[in-house]
Parts: sequence; structure tokens; C-alpha cells
Amino acid sequence: MSKNKVSLTGIKPTGRPHVGNWLGMYEPALRLAEREDVDGYYFIADYHALTSVRNADEMRALTLDCAATWLAFGLDPSNTLLYRQSDVPEVFELSWALACMTPKGFMNKAHAYKAARDANVAAGQDSDVGVNMGLYTYPVLMAADILVVDADIVPVGKDQVQHVEIARDVAQRLNATFGEGTLKLPVAELKKETAVVPGLDGRKMSKSYGNTLPCFETAKRTRKAVMRITTDSTPPEQPKDPESSLVYQIHRALLTPEQAVELAGRYREGISWGHAKQALFEGLEERLAEPREQFHRLMSDPDTLEDILRDGARRVREVTGPVVERLRSAIGIQG
Ligand code: TRP
Repeated sequence: MSKNKVSLTGIKPTGRPHVGNWLGMYEPALRLAEREDVDGYYFIADYHALTSVRNADEMRALTLDCAATWLAFGLDPSNTLLYRQSDVPEVFELSWALACMTPKGFMNKAHAYKAARDANVAAGQDSDVGVNMGLYTYPVLMAADILVVDADIVPVGKDQVQHVEIARDVAQRLNATFGEGTLKLPVAELKKETAVVPGLDGRKMSKSYGNTLPCFETAKRTRKAVMRITTDSTPPEQPKDPESSLVYQIHRALLTPEQAVELAGRYREGISWGHAKQALFEGLEERLAEPREQFHRLMSDPDTLEDILRDGARRVREVTGPVVERLRSAIGIQG
């Protein structure tokens, strides 16, 4: 068994990625997987998606999209584990045990539920409208995801730190009751703020604003989206301030600092918006053409995707099996 620390990344499947997701989340997560001292575990949290997805075909498609996306962006399944939460029954067994250790008050304060409740109250509705128990106990399932693999590190954005703290706290309670060492205490690692990529209209790039640059659409559609980026009416030859240009701000996110300085120089010399956009489009193509092709190849071969996910599940269960054995023995369930 490897002596490396286990770093766990859970991804709720939410649809095909845009450039903001790619540069803000996939890229940094994959760079982490290259660290020598860390074993990366990546899993698709399909049962977490069930708190909101209400269509079987959609659930299947989202899950396969998510797997193909990680692989297309370069996740190497021989080096890192890629699996699907629902393939690992130990998660759900641990989840129940943890639920029995979790004070209800913790869940009242968990922010996914709190946000739903506050929105209801603000709208003058009963605070429980639209809140299912899956949403309410979301952090318990997430704690099980983490604790079932003996994770050391959980790299998360700010919004998820609270959930990792809950996992830690619940594990501590279980250990205090049933024996230290029953569950391993994880640590949240706050991911450095990666540059937020602006969208076509200058707001944060987000599906809900309809201002995204796609990763896996055709080159033609990608180009069309690039051409929609908002610009001002500075004439073609006139110098342009790169910092206040949206095209530059997006383009910069693709570049090394040296390349960005060079590009900024071209803006100051006077580049037409048409050429600036063409350069961005070409930059995107250079980086995305291959992952895009890979993504579509994988999506056209769902059997291979399934095999990869199953193999990941088989390997992770070599870890989760013994953890649940430890748990059962500690709490006196068949132990
Ligand atoms: N809640 C996380 C999110 O919405 C996804 C997630 C589920 C997760 N289980 C996890 C993240 C375990 C890290 C570890 O982004």
C-alpha cells in the first residue's frame, strides 16, 4: 500500500464544462494529481445529484459526461482513482452510521440547506418548501465519502470548507464514543483562488448567465461564442488598454505570465478587435482541440467509460472495505 497522503476530490455532475470550469477547477485539480506525495482519488457524486436531478436519462448522461470530462482533460486512471460514488456501497453504510452520530443542529446550520430555508423565508413561504431530506443531510453523505477512504486532505473551495469541518467533527464524535482511530480525521485544504474567468458579457462566466465559452462544442460554435465577447468601439488601429479589455482578460487566463505580457504589448500597439478575438479563438483551439476530440471519442464508447469507472470502484473498495470493517467492529455490528 502506498504511504502517500490521500487527497479526495468529489464532483457533483452538473453538465458539460465551460472554459471557466476548465481553468478554475479541472486544471488546478489535475495539477494536484501530479503531486508525488499525494494519491489522488476523484469521484463522481451521483447520489448527491439526486437531491435535485429528477430524470434517469439526465442522471446517466450527466454522470458519463463528468467521467469523460476528467479523462479528456488528462486524468490518468492508472495513476489516480476515478470512480462513481454509487458503485461503492460502503459509502452508504458508513453514511447511516454517521447520521446516527450527527446532532440534528449541525444540519440546521449547514449552508446548502440554510440557503434554501432562507430563500423560502424571504419569499414568505414555509421554511421547508422544496427541502428534501437528501438536501438536509447532504453533509452526512459527504462526510461518508470522505471518511470511507481514510482521506487525509480534501481540497475544496470556500463554500465546501464547512462540510469538511462537519465530517471531521462527526468522525471525532464517533471516535470518542467507539475508540480513537476508528475513523481518520481529514483536513480541508482551501484551494487558492484561481483567477475567475469573465464571461462573454464581463460578468463571471456561468451557465446561469448564458455567457459561457464552451469547451467541447465544435470549433465553429466556439468561434461564434468568441465573436460575441463584448468590446467597445475603439477603431481597429488605435491602441487598446489590455487590462480594461474583456477579450484580453479572457485570453490571459490561457497564457503563461510571459505570454500575457507579450499579448498585452500587441493590444497597446493597436490590434483590431477582430484580430484580438481571432487570436483568442486560436489560443483556445490550441489547448482544447485535443481534449474535445478525446471527450467525443469517450462519449461514443460508453462501455469503455463504464469499464474505467468499474475498475476505479474495484480499486477503491480495497480501501473502503477495511474501513467499514473497522467501523462495524468498533460499533458492534456483526463485529
Ligand atoms: N459537495 C461537493 C460540491 O458540491 C461535492 C462533493 C460531494 C464532495 N462529496 C464530496 C467534495 C466529498 C469533496 C469531498 O462541490
